[in-house]
Amino acid sequence: MAAPTATEYVRRFSLAERLAHWAAASAFLVMTATGLILYLPAFASLAADRVLWKSLHVGAAIGFWAGLVAVVAASPRGLARTASELDRFDDDDRAWLAWAVRRRGPEPPAGRFNAGQKLNAAVIAGLAVVFTVSGVLILLQESDAAFRGATSAILVHDWATWLAVPLVAGHVYLATLNASTRHSLRGMTLGTVRRDWARRHHPKWEAECE
Ligand code: HEM
Repeated sequence: MAAPTATEYVRRFSLAERLAHWAAASAFLVMTATGLILYLPAFASLAADRVLWKSLHVGAAIGFWAGLVAVVAASPRGLARTASELDRFDDDDRAWLAWAVRRRGPEPPAGRFNAGQKLNAAVIAGLAVVFTVSGVLILLQESDAAFRGATSAILVHDWATWLAVPLVAGHVYLATLNASTRHSLRGMTLGTVRRDWARRHHPKWEAECE
């Protein structure tokens, strides 16, 4: 197999995948910022207008689901394929996880997503459901006396936040600052990545690219 030149590019993400990602990312960032303003004592003076921050927080959650439904409706097959690629763990993925823990020997070959990315996507998807269910319960508790004190929804919402924030911070670090992985940002913005980068990080997927 000939070594790829530095100017050869392969398509990494479709427009639907990029729109779904940026809808989720921007909603998450707005929800995190407004949630922390409402929660942390340091922002008490800013949070005086609780109705405003809460509307922005809940509005971003509604915008996230509405955006996701719209993008999935526009490209159901393509996004179902992406979801199944993220969902499937093979022997190389298990070997990759063991390698990521020990950091010894050659890196096992990854497909379009490595096992770390697959785990990240699974945890994020699970957290999106936990945030939504606990968030709806919090709203119900606030508006309906019958629900008051009935669940620990606030506690669950808070713990989900403390799990999601470092996870996403690590993800953003890898996508923007870490030298060997930050080229991936080109894939999530322009849609394409350099073939030599793809071969180094996702060799099984690169071998299938035209
Ligand atoms: C400014 C913030 C963000 C940047 C710059 C960013 C960047 C990226 C990039 C470059 C990729 C593609 C990686 C690749 O080529 O394999 C990606 C994938 C992904 N992003 Fe983000 N992202 C951001 C925020 C978020 C947020 C907030 C979430 C979740 C709510 C998220 C969830 C994901 C998921 C699930 C994937 C696919 C799996 C993975 O690569 O880990 N991203 N992101």
